[in-house]
Amino acid sequence: MQQAIEALRADGLTRIDQATTADEVEAVRVALLGRKGEVTGLLRGLKDATPEERPAIGAALNQLKVDLTEALDVRKASLAGTSEQHTGLDLTLPGASPVSLGTQHPLLSVLEEMCDIFYGMGYDRGEGPEVELDYYNFTALNFPDDHPARDIQDTFFINKDVVLRTQTSPVQVRTMEKIDPPLAYVFPGRVYRNENADASHSSEFFQLEGLRVDKNISLVDLRETVEAFVSSFFGAGFKTRFRPHFFPFTEPSVEVDMQCVKCSGKGCGVCGQTGWLEIMGAGMVHPNVFKAAGYPEDAYTGFAFGMGVDRIAMLKYGIDDIRLLYENDLRFLNQFRGVL
Ligand code: DAH
Repeated sequence: MQQAIEALRADGLTRIDQATTADEVEAVRVALLGRKGEVTGLLRGLKDATPEERPAIGAALNQLKVDLTEALDVRKASLAGTSEQHTGLDLTLPGASPVSLGTQHPLLSVLEEMCDIFYGMGYDRGEGPEVELDYYNFTALNFPDDHPARDIQDTFFINKDVVLRTQTSPVQVRTMEKIDPPLAYVFPGRVYRNENADASHSSEFFQLEGLRVDKNISLVDLRETVEAFVSSFFGAGFKTRFRPHFFPFTEPSVEVDMQCVKCSGKGCGVCGQTGWLEIMGAGMVHPNVFKAAGYPEDAYTGFAFGMGVDRIAMLKYGIDDIRLLYENDLRFLNQFRGVL
Protein backbone atom coordinates (compact mmCIF):
# COMPACT_ATOMS: atom_id res chain seq x y z
CA MET A 1 0.00 0.00 0.00
CA GLN A 2 2.75 2.44 0.96
CA GLN A 3 4.39 1.67 -2.40
CA ALA A 4 1.19 2.44 -4.28
CA ILE A 5 0.92 5.77 -2.40
CA GLU A 6 4.52 6.78 -3.30
CA ALA A 7 4.04 5.71 -6.93
CA LEU A 8 0.89 7.81 -7.18
CA ARG A 9 2.66 10.78 -5.57
CA ALA A 10 5.48 10.61 -8.13
CA ASP A 11 3.11 10.11 -11.05
CA GLY A 12 0.70 12.80 -9.81
CA LEU A 13 3.44 15.39 -9.37
CA THR A 14 4.78 14.69 -12.87
CA ARG A 15 1.33 15.10 -14.42
CA ILE A 16 0.76 18.34 -12.51
CA ASP A 17 4.11 19.60 -13.80
CA GLN A 18 3.23 18.71 -17.36
CA ALA A 19 -0.08 20.55 -17.33
CA THR A 20 0.42 23.71 -19.38
CA THR A 21 -2.88 25.54 -18.93
CA ALA A 22 -5.17 26.21 -15.99
CA ASP A 23 -7.75 23.93 -17.64
CA GLU A 24 -5.27 21.07 -17.83
CA VAL A 25 -4.37 21.51 -14.15
CA GLU A 26 -8.07 21.29 -13.31
CA ALA A 27 -8.38 18.05 -15.32
CA VAL A 28 -5.43 16.52 -13.39
CA ARG A 29 -7.04 17.60 -10.11
CA VAL A 30 -10.26 15.81 -11.01
CA ALA A 31 -8.34 12.69 -12.14
CA LEU A 32 -6.39 12.56 -8.86
CA LEU A 33 -8.64 13.97 -6.19
CA GLY A 34 -12.14 13.92 -7.70
CA ARG A 35 -14.88 11.60 -6.41
CA LYS A 36 -13.77 8.88 -8.79
CA GLY A 37 -10.13 9.99 -8.70
CA GLU A 38 -7.06 7.86 -8.08
CA VAL A 39 -6.33 9.11 -4.54
CA THR A 40 -9.97 8.56 -3.63
CA GLY A 41 -9.62 5.04 -5.05
CA LEU A 42 -6.69 4.34 -2.71
CA LEU A 43 -8.65 5.71 0.26
CA ARG A 44 -11.38 3.20 -0.49
CA GLY A 45 -8.75 0.44 -0.32
CA LEU A 46 -8.07 1.45 3.29
CA LYS A 47 -10.80 -0.84 4.50
CA ASP A 48 -8.80 -3.85 3.27
CA ALA A 49 -5.86 -2.99 5.50
CA THR A 50 -5.40 -4.58 8.90
CA PRO A 51 -6.42 -2.45 11.89
CA GLU A 52 -2.74 -2.13 12.84
CA GLU A 53 -1.74 -0.82 9.40
CA ARG A 54 -4.65 1.56 9.03
CA PRO A 55 -3.48 4.63 11.04
CA ALA A 56 -0.15 4.81 9.19
CA ILE A 57 -1.71 4.31 5.76
CA GLY A 58 -4.47 6.80 6.56
CA ALA A 59 -1.89 9.41 7.59
CA ALA A 60 0.18 8.74 4.44
CA LEU A 61 -2.89 9.09 2.21
CA ASN A 62 -3.87 12.36 3.90
CA GLN A 63 -0.34 13.68 3.42
CA LEU A 64 -0.53 12.65 -0.27
CA LYS A 65 -3.78 14.59 -0.63
CA VAL A 66 -2.25 17.68 1.02
CA ASP A 67 0.90 17.48 -1.13
CA LEU A 68 -0.97 17.02 -4.41
CA THR A 69 -3.46 19.80 -3.58
CA GLU A 70 -0.60 22.16 -2.83
CA ALA A 71 1.24 21.22 -6.04
CA LEU A 72 -1.97 21.77 -8.02
CA ASP A 73 -2.50 25.21 -6.46
CA VAL A 74 1.08 26.27 -7.11
CA ARG A 75 0.92 25.09 -10.70
CA LYS A 76 -2.40 26.80 -11.28
CA ALA A 77 -1.12 30.09 -9.89
CA SER A 78 1.98 29.96 -12.07
CA LEU A 79 -0.19 29.41 -15.14
CA ALA A 80 -2.71 32.12 -14.27
CA GLY A 81 -3.59 33.98 -17.42
CA THR A 82 -2.82 31.20 -19.90
CA SER A 83 -6.41 30.00 -20.29
CA GLU A 84 -8.56 31.55 -23.00
CA GLN A 85 -10.19 33.95 -20.56
CA HIS A 86 -6.86 35.65 -19.84
CA THR A 87 -4.55 37.07 -22.46
CA GLY A 88 -1.49 36.93 -20.24
CA LEU A 89 -0.93 40.64 -20.84
CA ASP A 90 0.73 42.11 -17.77
CA LEU A 91 0.99 45.84 -18.23
CA THR A 92 3.22 46.17 -15.20
CA LEU A 93 6.07 44.09 -16.66
CA PRO A 94 9.09 46.05 -17.92
CA GLY A 95 9.51 46.19 -21.72
CA ALA A 96 11.77 43.73 -23.51
CA SER A 97 14.19 46.46 -24.61
CA PRO A 98 14.42 50.14 -23.67
CA VAL A 99 12.57 52.52 -26.01
CA SER A 100 15.10 54.60 -27.86
CA LEU A 101 14.12 58.24 -28.14
CA GLY A 102 14.81 60.22 -31.31
CA THR A 103 16.74 63.48 -31.33
CA GLN A 104 16.59 66.55 -33.54
CA HIS A 105 18.35 66.17 -36.90
CA PRO A 106 21.80 67.85 -36.83
CA LEU A 107 20.84 70.04 -39.79
CA LEU A 108 17.83 71.47 -37.95
CA SER A 109 19.87 71.92 -34.77
CA VAL A 110 22.40 73.96 -36.74
CA LEU A 111 19.63 75.96 -38.39
CA GLU A 112 18.10 76.81 -35.00
CA GLU A 113 21.50 77.71 -33.60
CA MET A 114 22.05 80.09 -36.54
CA CYS A 115 18.60 81.66 -36.08
CA ASP A 116 19.24 82.11 -32.36
CA ILE A 117 22.30 84.23 -33.08
CA PHE A 118 20.18 86.55 -35.21
CA TYR A 119 17.37 86.66 -32.63
CA GLY A 120 20.06 87.91 -30.27
CA MET A 121 20.68 90.78 -32.69
CA GLY A 122 16.98 91.67 -32.73
CA TYR A 123 15.90 89.78 -35.83
CA ASP A 124 12.43 88.27 -36.32
CA ARG A 125 11.78 85.03 -38.15
CA GLY A 126 9.64 84.67 -41.24
CA GLU A 127 8.74 81.86 -43.56
CA GLY A 128 7.42 81.45 -47.08
CA PRO A 129 6.13 78.66 -49.31
CA GLU A 130 8.40 76.02 -50.85
CA VAL A 131 6.08 75.79 -53.87
CA GLU A 132 6.53 79.34 -55.05
CA LEU A 133 5.36 81.56 -57.88
CA ASP A 134 7.93 82.18 -60.57
CA TYR A 135 7.12 85.84 -59.89
CA TYR A 136 8.51 85.82 -56.33
CA ASN A 137 11.35 83.39 -57.02
CA PHE A 138 12.65 85.35 -60.02
CA THR A 139 10.75 88.32 -61.47
CA ALA A 140 10.28 90.33 -58.27
CA LEU A 141 13.96 89.67 -57.48
CA ASN A 142 15.02 91.45 -60.64
CA PHE A 143 15.93 88.32 -62.64
CA PRO A 144 15.50 89.16 -66.33
CA ASP A 145 13.17 86.86 -68.30
CA ASP A 146 16.05 85.12 -70.01
CA HIS A 147 18.23 84.63 -66.91
CA PRO A 148 20.00 81.25 -67.01
CA ALA A 149 18.85 80.35 -63.47
CA ARG A 150 15.31 80.05 -64.82
CA ASP A 151 16.54 77.31 -67.08
CA ILE A 152 14.82 73.98 -66.71
CA GLN A 153 18.28 72.57 -65.89
CA ASP A 154 18.37 74.37 -62.55
CA THR A 155 14.76 74.88 -61.56
CA PHE A 156 11.98 72.38 -60.94
CA PHE A 157 8.95 73.87 -62.68
CA ILE A 158 5.49 72.77 -61.51
CA ASN A 159 4.03 74.68 -64.46
CA LYS A 160 4.97 77.80 -66.38
CA ASP A 161 4.17 80.08 -63.41
CA VAL A 162 4.97 77.87 -60.41
CA VAL A 163 8.33 76.49 -59.27
CA LEU A 164 9.88 74.72 -56.32
CA ARG A 165 11.73 77.71 -54.88
CA THR A 166 15.42 77.65 -55.75
CA GLN A 167 16.33 80.07 -52.95
CA THR A 168 14.82 81.63 -49.81
CA SER A 169 15.18 85.14 -51.30
CA PRO A 170 11.50 85.25 -52.47
CA VAL A 171 10.50 85.48 -48.79
CA GLN A 172 12.20 88.90 -48.75
CA VAL A 173 9.63 90.29 -51.18
CA ARG A 174 6.67 88.51 -49.57
CA THR A 175 7.67 90.01 -46.22
CA MET A 176 8.31 93.53 -47.49
CA GLU A 177 4.89 93.51 -49.21
CA LYS A 178 3.34 93.17 -45.75
CA ILE A 179 5.74 94.98 -43.43
CA ASP A 180 7.15 98.49 -43.55
CA PRO A 181 10.70 99.33 -42.42
CA PRO A 182 12.48 99.32 -40.13
CA LEU A 183 12.68 95.56 -40.25
CA ALA A 184 15.18 92.79 -39.62
CA TYR A 185 14.29 89.21 -40.47
CA VAL A 186 15.76 85.77 -40.98
CA PHE A 187 13.99 83.36 -43.32
CA PRO A 188 15.09 79.75 -42.89
CA GLY A 189 13.86 77.03 -45.19
CA ARG A 190 14.25 74.25 -47.70
CA VAL A 191 15.09 75.00 -51.32
CA TYR A 192 15.28 72.85 -54.44
CA ARG A 193 17.50 72.68 -57.50
CA ASN A 194 17.52 70.33 -60.43
CA GLU A 195 20.98 69.02 -59.71
CA ASN A 196 22.65 65.64 -59.69
CA ALA A 197 23.63 64.62 -56.20
CA ASP A 198 27.32 64.37 -55.33
CA ALA A 199 29.41 65.04 -52.23
CA SER A 200 28.71 68.77 -52.36
CA HIS A 201 25.38 68.97 -54.25
CA SER A 202 21.90 67.84 -53.36
CA SER A 203 18.62 68.58 -55.15
CA GLU A 204 17.23 69.80 -51.83
CA PHE A 205 19.07 71.75 -49.20
CA PHE A 206 18.50 74.50 -46.62
CA GLN A 207 19.21 78.19 -46.74
CA LEU A 208 19.09 80.92 -44.15
CA GLU A 209 18.17 84.26 -45.68
CA GLY A 210 18.59 87.55 -43.86
CA LEU A 211 17.11 90.97 -44.56
CA ARG A 212 17.52 94.27 -42.78
CA VAL A 213 15.90 97.45 -44.08
CA ASP A 214 15.87 100.91 -42.57
CA LYS A 215 16.94 104.42 -43.37
CA ASN A 216 20.69 104.70 -43.98
CA ILE A 217 21.66 101.03 -43.77
CA SER A 218 25.06 100.55 -45.40
CA LEU A 219 27.57 97.88 -46.33
CA VAL A 220 29.28 98.58 -43.01
CA ASP A 221 26.18 97.30 -41.19
CA LEU A 222 26.36 94.16 -43.30
CA ARG A 223 30.03 93.66 -42.41
CA GLU A 224 29.34 94.09 -38.73
CA THR A 225 26.47 91.63 -38.86
CA VAL A 226 28.52 89.02 -40.74
CA GLU A 227 31.38 89.34 -38.26
CA ALA A 228 29.06 89.06 -35.27
CA PHE A 229 27.54 85.92 -36.78
CA VAL A 230 30.86 84.26 -37.61
CA SER A 231 32.37 84.91 -34.19
CA SER A 232 29.23 83.69 -32.39
CA PHE A 233 28.85 80.57 -34.50
CA PHE A 234 32.44 79.49 -35.18
CA GLY A 235 34.21 81.24 -32.32
CA ALA A 236 36.39 84.34 -32.15
CA GLY A 237 39.45 84.90 -34.33
CA PHE A 238 38.27 84.03 -37.85
CA LYS A 239 38.72 86.91 -40.31
CA THR A 240 36.08 87.54 -42.98
CA ARG A 241 36.39 89.21 -46.37
CA PHE A 242 34.01 90.49 -49.05
CA ARG A 243 34.61 89.64 -52.71
CA PRO A 244 32.68 91.49 -55.43
CA HIS A 245 30.10 89.24 -57.07
CA PHE A 246 26.83 89.46 -58.99
CA PHE A 247 23.28 88.74 -57.86
CA PRO A 248 20.31 90.31 -59.70
CA PHE A 249 18.60 91.34 -56.44
CA THR A 250 21.51 93.16 -54.78
CA GLU A 251 23.71 96.05 -55.85
CA PRO A 252 26.53 95.97 -54.99
CA SER A 253 26.71 92.21 -54.47
CA VAL A 254 29.40 90.28 -52.63
CA GLU A 255 30.42 86.81 -51.69
CA VAL A 256 31.59 86.51 -48.10
CA ASP A 257 34.55 84.32 -47.16
CA MET A 258 35.81 83.40 -43.72
CA GLN A 259 39.18 81.98 -42.76
CA CYS A 260 39.16 78.22 -43.01
CA VAL A 261 37.70 76.57 -39.90
CA LYS A 262 40.15 73.68 -40.25
CA CYS A 263 43.50 75.40 -40.87
CA SER A 264 42.64 78.96 -39.72
CA GLY A 265 43.90 80.38 -43.01
CA LYS A 266 47.10 78.41 -43.60
CA GLY A 267 45.69 76.34 -46.48
CA CYS A 268 44.45 72.74 -46.33
CA GLY A 269 42.28 70.20 -48.12
CA VAL A 270 39.03 71.66 -46.79
CA CYS A 271 39.70 75.16 -48.23
CA GLY A 272 41.44 73.95 -51.40
CA GLN A 273 44.72 75.37 -50.06
CA THR A 274 43.37 78.95 -50.23
CA GLY A 275 42.89 79.46 -46.49
CA TRP A 276 39.38 80.87 -47.18
CA LEU A 277 35.89 79.37 -47.26
CA GLU A 278 32.91 80.97 -48.97
CA ILE A 279 30.03 81.12 -46.50
CA MET A 280 27.35 83.33 -48.04
CA GLY A 281 26.13 85.59 -50.80
CA ALA A 282 25.08 89.09 -49.78
CA GLY A 283 24.67 92.68 -50.86
CA MET A 284 22.62 95.85 -50.69
CA VAL A 285 18.99 95.35 -51.70
CA HIS A 286 18.47 96.39 -55.34
CA PRO A 287 16.08 99.34 -55.87
CA ASN A 288 14.01 97.17 -58.24
CA VAL A 289 13.33 94.73 -55.37
CA PHE A 290 12.09 97.58 -53.15
CA LYS A 291 9.95 98.66 -56.08
CA ALA A 292 8.44 95.16 -56.47
CA ALA A 293 7.66 95.18 -52.74
CA GLY A 294 5.84 98.51 -53.11
CA TYR A 295 8.27 100.63 -51.08
CA PRO A 296 8.61 104.31 -52.02
CA GLU A 297 11.61 105.08 -54.21
CA ASP A 298 14.86 106.09 -52.47
CA ALA A 299 13.29 106.08 -49.00
CA TYR A 300 15.18 103.10 -47.58
CA THR A 301 18.30 101.06 -47.92
CA GLY A 302 18.93 97.55 -46.74
CA PHE A 303 21.18 94.55 -46.88
CA ALA A 304 20.37 90.93 -47.55
CA PHE A 305 22.33 87.72 -47.29
CA GLY A 306 21.80 84.05 -47.99
CA MET A 307 23.70 81.14 -46.41
CA GLY A 308 23.71 77.46 -47.17
CA VAL A 309 22.80 75.83 -43.87
CA ASP A 310 24.10 72.44 -45.04
CA ARG A 311 27.46 73.92 -45.90
CA ILE A 312 27.73 75.70 -42.56
CA ALA A 313 26.80 72.47 -40.73
CA MET A 314 29.36 70.52 -42.77
CA LEU A 315 32.10 73.05 -41.99
CA LYS A 316 31.29 73.11 -38.30
CA TYR A 317 31.18 69.35 -37.85
CA GLY A 318 33.73 68.24 -40.47
CA ILE A 319 31.11 66.42 -42.60
CA ASP A 320 32.54 65.79 -46.07
CA ASP A 321 29.44 64.61 -47.97
CA ILE A 322 26.14 66.53 -48.06
CA ARG A 323 24.23 63.32 -48.86
CA LEU A 324 24.86 62.14 -45.29
CA LEU A 325 22.50 64.88 -44.14
CA TYR A 326 19.61 63.44 -46.16
CA GLU A 327 20.06 59.68 -45.97
CA ASN A 328 18.95 59.36 -42.32
CA ASP A 329 21.46 56.62 -41.63
CA LEU A 330 21.31 56.11 -37.86
CA ARG A 331 25.02 55.30 -37.72
CA PHE A 332 25.61 58.89 -38.87
CA LEU A 333 22.81 60.57 -36.91
CA ASN A 334 23.62 58.84 -33.61
CA GLN A 335 27.02 60.55 -33.56
CA PHE A 336 25.18 63.82 -32.85
CA ARG A 337 23.25 62.42 -29.90
CA GLY A 338 23.85 64.68 -26.93
CA VAL A 339 26.40 66.76 -28.88
CA LEU A 340 24.04 69.35 -30.32
N1 DAH B 1 19.76 83.57 -53.16
C1 DAH B 1 21.19 83.41 -53.37
C2 DAH B 1 21.46 81.98 -53.80
O1 DAH B 1 20.66 81.13 -53.60
C3 DAH B 1 21.94 83.71 -52.12
C4 DAH B 1 21.90 85.16 -51.79
C5 DAH B 1 22.84 86.01 -52.30
C6 DAH B 1 20.89 85.67 -50.99
C7 DAH B 1 22.81 87.35 -52.03
C8 DAH B 1 20.86 87.01 -50.68
C9 DAH B 1 21.82 87.84 -51.22
O2 DAH B 1 19.91 87.56 -49.92
O3 DAH B 1 21.78 89.19 -50.93
O4 DAH B 1 22.51 81.72 -54.36
